[in-house]
Amino acid sequence: MIMQENSNHSANPSLGVCYYPEQWAREKWTTDLDAMRALGIRFVRIGEFAWSRLEPNPGEYQFEWMQDILDKAAQRQLSIVLGTPTAAPPKWLVDQIPEMVAIGADGFPRKFGSRRHYCFSNRSYQKECERIVTELARSFGGHPAVAAWQTDNEYGCHNTVVSYSASALHGFRGWLKSKYESIDQLNRAWGNAFWSMEYRNFDEIELPNLTVTNPNPAHQLDFMRFSSDQVKIFNRLQVEIIRQYSPDRTILHNFMGRFLDFDHFALSEDLDAAGWDSYPLGFLSEMKTSNSHKTRYLRSGDPDFVGFHHDLYRSCGRGRWWILEQQPGPVNWASYNPSPYPGMIRFWTHEGFAHGAEVVSYFRWRQAPFAQEQMHAGLNLPNDQPDQASLEAAQVGKELSGLSLGAVAAAKVALVYDYEAAWTLGIQPQGDNFDYMAVALSFYRAFRRLGLNVDIISQKASLEPYSVVAIPSLPIVQAGLVESLRGFRGQVLVAPRTGSKTADFQIPQELPPGRLQQLIPISVLRVESLPEFAPISVNWNSASYECHGCFSSARCRRPTGKIPFRSFVCVSATSPAHPNLLTIFSHPYPTPRCQVDISKPPSTCKRKFGSQ
Ligand code: GAL
Repeated sequence: MIMQENSNHSANPSLGVCYYPEQWAREKWTTDLDAMRALGIRFVRIGEFAWSRLEPNPGEYQFEWMQDILDKAAQRQLSIVLGTPTAAPPKWLVDQIPEMVAIGADGFPRKFGSRRHYCFSNRSYQKECERIVTELARSFGGHPAVAAWQTDNEYGCHNTVVSYSASALHGFRGWLKSKYESIDQLNRAWGNAFWSMEYRNFDEIELPNLTVTNPNPAHQLDFMRFSSDQVKIFNRLQVEIIRQYSPDRTILHNFMGRFLDFDHFALSEDLDAAGWDSYPLGFLSEMKTSNSHKTRYLRSGDPDFVGFHHDLYRSCGRGRWWILEQQPGPVNWASYNPSPYPGMIRFWTHEGFAHGAEVVSYFRWRQAPFAQEQMHAGLNLPNDQPDQASLEAAQVGKELSGLSLGAVAAAKVALVYDYEAAWTLGIQPQGDNFDYMAVALSFYRAFRRLGLNVDIISQKASLEPYSVVAIPSLPIVQAGLVESLRGFRGQVLVAPRTGSKTADFQIPQELPPGRLQQLIPISVLRVESLPEFAPISVNWNSASYECHGCFSSARCRRPTGKIPFRSFVCVSATSPAHPNLLTIFSHPYPTPRCQVDISKPPSTCKRKFGSQ
């Protein structure tokens, strides 16, 4: 499994906490750090929003307080995760470079007064980030308390990956020029003969917002690819500086849940480990799911949603990952913010370690009585009284002492997860209820119900360690994956809309599943979508299932296997080229109960799905 590449599963899983010294009087620091120590905390994450205190005026660095807190931490054998403060540029900087803010799809600038008010493409802001990160890394990179660095904070949070600014436009034109070389090539790739959308040169191209109706999907997809690259470039600038001044420290970023606006696999290549912020109840509240599902998991969170992200980020970190923020009680940002059941904080912490987390760090040490997040719980109440989470963290601290964990059990199942697939299906869902993340999660859920461990992998990953590979939906299939599948002898599940587009967002000449036709003897002739109130009933293994959403009708190229229109369900495509490949033509509801017995040789596995 993925652990082998970068295996550093912490033999001693540790607790951490997020702390904002700049928000508290200095007299509190000593007692806070002592109390953390007593609780069993080993890592303290600081600094990620502290720019206005580190540099109150342009070029006037005030680092003495940072030195002080680092020294105090070192005296107590507490390790620091130092955040770069670039998610919260100070007011003077925004006034100095007004064009650094992102522009929303509505054409309006994102104003100062909260956070993440910057555009990834703005070169002047990038330079300011390089400057502050250099100063910090040079000053504190070698400090004995500094064990790790977190770049920025939650790239893309508050919908900030995409910006329609002048710098994004300039960057996008250059990006397109180097991708297509000639404008004719771009016009062909995008199909711009349609609706007279042809360009005469790259400088005529605009960003895909504020159009009368949908912009060209190929234009949108390229803009998503460009925007994703901007995040990677922005992150890499910081990583290179930190590596230079602070060698041998773990560099991470705190990713989010259910967030697909940039390619996390690509960005993670530049990190030592992945991190993510786990808020099970907040995520559930925001999930598009039934009320009964939300009621069932109201105070525990959806366990598969949480597990999915643990496994995803373990893969992004090539085996090394942390929970950089763990929900401690009610949060403030979801539509509804329930309290977890007593015991949930302890449970979530152990669950993280069981999936291989090196550190679980609670957000935050003390509930803030001021500003935007005053309704968000912490380990302690605003008056310093321990809250429920603190008691549970203390219990975990005791349970961890002397505990040594082995490697995470190797998964036999791989689920191919693809950011470009999310963009493509988001741009052209062909039905309001087609949600890529929900489809991927339904596969994960089905495997977990069978008690199987799952690795969530990119389409570039090796399939060798696995017995089963599931492809929940993958419109743009890369040639490399076709080759990997050709050589793969385990079970493969391929779900709707896979191979449905070329890299240029066109329907493949040979019809979907495009280049996968080399392995799957079908051509998809039509895709229809139906509303939730019009499900299609499917019988399988003497049980009846409802299929919702998207249905493909296809022709089988095998002489015997004609699949008429409206036999929506699933076939096992017994292609001589790949006898274990199962193509699914719709997503059964509530979940595909895949009968895949990986303990048996593939040829005897049950893989028929529905009626033909
Ligand atoms: C995260 C963020 C934190 C804090 C937290 C509240 O998204 O990284 O800074 O805002 O949410 O739950």
